[in-house]
Amino acid sequence: MDSQSDNPILRFSAIVWGLGIFLIFAVILGVFWWVNRDTPETLEENAAKVRYETKAKAFEAQAASLPQELIDAAIPAVAEQLASVKPAAVEKPEQVIPGSPTAEKLAAAPAADTAAVDAMAGDPDEPIDPAVMEKGKISFILCSACHGQNGEGGPIAPPLAGSEWVNGPASNLIRIQLRGLVGPINVAGKEYDFIGGMAAQAQQSDEDIAAVLTYVRNSFGNKAPAVKPEQVAALRSEVGKPQLTADDLVKP
Ligand code: HEC
Repeated sequence: MDSQSDNPILRFSAIVWGLGIFLIFAVILGVFWWVNRDTPETLEENAAKVRYETKAKAFEAQAASLPQELIDAAIPAVAEQLASVKPAAVEKPEQVIPGSPTAEKLAAAPAADTAAVDAMAGDPDEPIDPAVMEKGKISFILCSACHGQNGEGGPIAPPLAGSEWVNGPASNLIRIQLRGLVGPINVAGKEYDFIGGMAAQAQQSDEDIAAVLTYVRNSFGNKAPAVKPEQVAALRSEVGKPQLTADDLVKP
């Protein structure tokens, strides 16, 4: 046997060197991991992080703006609404096949007679039924998630307080409930344009829509005649048509 490889001192120092180099590598890797531990690596991870943070902030803001007793009061009413929902087929124009029965039906559907509906409006001085206000207040909790608890608007929807649309012709408000709204819209002197706009809420009954609109038109400093369930019923043929744009509305 070679006397060198048998030398215990040499063997010992080789082990010490080996361990030393291993430790140095471990420390370098450790430092590298520590510095990078929170940094998302790809663009997708970065975007996901921003999305999660934004979502968390929006949830927090909504939770802070809605007192628990309001939510508790709304749950039975909303559950009842949802239980009585009749499915409304809402097709986007790009999904309707040209020449199909749906396309023909929508093309043949008469344009909404907004003038007739607005002519049904009540006297502005007629007192508002407190029971209708109470019903509307509960439905409004759904609207408040986007429009703010006092209709003040927010990062995802324009204000309802002081809106000329809210205080204007009832046909606009009813059609917005039945068809939704998208694209730029000027509210109280400010231009808004939210991606995706507002979805239709046509699952609500005529009474629900009349009540929530009456509530909005007589809260937060707004003042306008009550909306009648008959006015909503007269516009039901609007359901299923594409989201409205501001140009489709009667100028307030
Ligand atoms: C998911 C969010 C969301 C909910 C819920 C919602 N809206 Fe909207 N609403 C919007 C957005 C966004 C717009 C603006 C659409 C656009 O950009 O054209 C809008 C516009 C409006 C407008 C016209 C503009 C204005 O501010 O006067 C009215 C009126 C309205 N909503 C009423 C309601 C009512 C009443 C409810 C509850 C029944 C409701 N909205 C629920 C998001 C929402």
